[in-house]
Amino acid sequence: MSAKIPLAGVIGAPVAHSKSPALHGYWLNRYGLKGHYVPLHVEQIDLEQVLKTLPKMGFVGANVTIPHKESVLALADIVTDRAALIGAANTLIFRPDGKLYADNTDGYGFVENLRSNADWDPKSGPAAVLGAGGAARAVIASLLEVGVPEIRLANRTRARADALRAEFGTKISVVEWVNANEMLKGATTVVNTTSLGMEGQPELKISFEHLSPDAVVTDIVYTPLHTDFLVRAADKGCQIVDGLGMLLYQAAPGFERWFDQRPEIDEATRAHILSL
Ligand code: ATR
Repeated sequence: MSAKIPLAGVIGAPVAHSKSPALHGYWLNRYGLKGHYVPLHVEQIDLEQVLKTLPKMGFVGANVTIPHKESVLALADIVTDRAALIGAANTLIFRPDGKLYADNTDGYGFVENLRSNADWDPKSGPAAVLGAGGAARAVIASLLEVGVPEIRLANRTRARADALRAEFGTKISVVEWVNANEMLKGATTVVNTTSLGMEGQPELKISFEHLSPDAVVTDIVYTPLHTDFLVRAADKGCQIVDGLGMLLYQAAPGFERWFDQRPEIDEATRAHILSL
């Protein structure tokens, strides 16, 4: 009897825009693996039933995207510490024992992207984080995990930043959105987690007068690859890291678990995604 072909996919609504099928498909092809990865458009009302049905259909796991990243936690049997801390999951494993395992690799992807693409020491100074949405939660949790001494946080809606400080602790200080440029003084890690600068969105118009050339500056936006924010930081002499790497690195742990192959993240992988 031949072994079952492992299936995986990305669960969301909408999912048509997701680059995950192209990325996992690329890796499956590159390594000559038997397996398929498909987009799965699932509405909230159907999520629980779909999660029960997929393993019976040969699915070994899935990625989860908007709007299910938070609600899937309540349906999981096992939630990793980092998923619980972030309050969301992006990677599921349908275990052979029938248990649903939920993990979050967004923070891992964020940190690996910086480690792999910059000479970055998170302990070298404060981090400045712009934005306090879902992406900021993963960024903040992972920055604290790798030992940043201090996080300065600014968000247009101050209450969301205050809530993150209350939750994640005293290493976080909240700065008014209009004064965000001041929190760049002495910061050695600078992160845009807002959607500003994304194609079709306004630019992130923060002044860089206090930005040190020693800072590593990164953006979670990757369309365009080089946002105005990154271009201006490069002009200041900073190391810049684009957001595409975060997408690639957060995908790798799931791929390895489902298809039993560690995927390489290199120029060829980047070029494939950028060619789409
Ligand atoms: P994600 O999961 O991608 O973080 P989100 O939770 O909707 O998405 O968060 C979007 C982030 O971009 C928030 O920090 C948001 O600021 P608010 O909390 O004030 O909404 C920020 N953002 C989006 N549009 C913005 C704008 N025009 N000006 C300033 N911040 C903006």
